Amino acid sequence: MDRIVITGGAPLNGTIPIFGAKNSALKLQAAALLSADPVMLENMPDLADTRFMAQLLNTLGVEITWIKETHTLRMHAAEIVSTIAPYDQVRKMRASFNVLGPLLARAGHATVSLPGGCAIGARPVDLHLKAFEAMGADIVIEQGYVKAAALRGLKGAEIDFPFVSVGATEHAMLAAVLAHGDTVLKNTAREPEIIDLADCLNAMGAKVEGAGTSEIRIKGVAKLSGVKHPVVADRIEAGTYAMAAAAAGGNVLLSGARFEHLGAMLKFLRDAGVRVEAEGRGIRVQRKLTDRMNAVDFETEPFPGFPTDLQAQAMALMCMADGVSRIKETIFENRFMHAPELARLGAKIEVHGNEAVVTGVPKLVGAPVMATDLRASVSLVVAGLAAEGETTVNRVYHLDRGFEKLEAKLQACGAQIVREREDQAA
Ligand code: EPZ
Repeated sequence: MDRIVITGGAPLNGTIPIFGAKNSALKLQAAALLSADPVMLENMPDLADTRFMAQLLNTLGVEITWIKETHTLRMHAAEIVSTIAPYDQVRKMRASFNVLGPLLARAGHATVSLPGGCAIGARPVDLHLKAFEAMGADIVIEQGYVKAAALRGLKGAEIDFPFVSVGATEHAMLAAVLAHGDTVLKNTAREPEIIDLADCLNAMGAKVEGAGTSEIRIKGVAKLSGVKHPVVADRIEAGTYAMAAAAAGGNVLLSGARFEHLGAMLKFLRDAGVRVEAEGRGIRVQRKLTDRMNAVDFETEPFPGFPTDLQAQAMALMCMADGVSRIKETIFENRFMHAPELARLGAKIEVHGNEAVVTGVPKLVGAPVMATDLRASVSLVVAGLAAEGETTVNRVYHLDRGFEKLEAKLQACGAQIVREREDQAA
């Protein structure tokens, strides 16, 4: 397995381009199933996860063309040849489950493996299934598969989610756009990725209003057409490099990052003493190495609150801050797996249930580490950039799921970071 070796202590100076958002791209890819015409996604991140989704779509009948030079993915679902998403494809990546709604809406039936839990928590899909049932689908769960049918089509419904779920909001949208009649979704997630999905669906001819608020209204249409749509900038990638620049010190422009999508994280950085400001079509992050960061308390929340996908990276920063930081994780029940790994670098962290208390230390010292999920892994890179000496991050495949050209982007700003390939690492 590849690993990443970082020699900490080099400040970051330069420009880091921010690519399209993985968590938007995956749902936009699922939307390609809704139309018999080609769907072209521009600013498409080339990641293990988006490649994996493309493969799954291909097994369902979608013709796939990656146009590398222009970061474009062309998907053409002229005909759906299979409505089955098997266990292996959904188990490896939960977002694969998102093909259920579009298949149900377009083909009238689908059989999709239940995704099961993952390292960060149980992550059920009950809200997704309740939404489809409300739209008139018959759903049975047999041998680990969701078998859903709406042979005469889905019908519009009013769905009031008991709590905010990004995935359930998006999945209900993906089904309701082709339902007969009107759908009202209440207590919806407000993430920028939801707006991106609505923009893409509307450009395909859907009638979606209210995305970005807590109530989304959808008028079903009979058919959707093709589209060319740019994937929204990845706020989590941008936030991660902002944390990296803060950790290592220096002066970095995150080009293409959307300031308005990162409010809670930018406030956190400012409170920590890091300089952040909008600059052109990007965000500039600056920190003098001589100034120690302040400890800041924060808790994760649905958008516009502090994103759970940046909690690990922010914890890495707080390990070196001056004082005690209290961090509460409210979205996933088991999302502190990075804490014992950060401790290997000398961090002082106590975890009590969904709260972590981090007592900042003057410096971290490099060590071999590994993590069990994407954001936890990248938090170790953030810490490693600031730590004294060498940090080796194992299980790099987690990073490849969500960060394209991670080493190259950091190297270009002066970081000492290299990937050792499996044959070299053995
Ligand atoms: C999305 O997951 C993202 N994944 C996650 O990013 C992100 O952490 C999360 O939203 C929150 O922002 C993708 O977009 C592919 P939820 P999702 O439904 O949609 C519970 C990353 O690192 N829940 O908003 O699965 C759930 O267990 C990933 O890129 C139910 O109980 O998140 C969680 O506790 C990790 N029943 C909470 O709701 C349901 O039917 C919020 O989850 C659905 C969710």
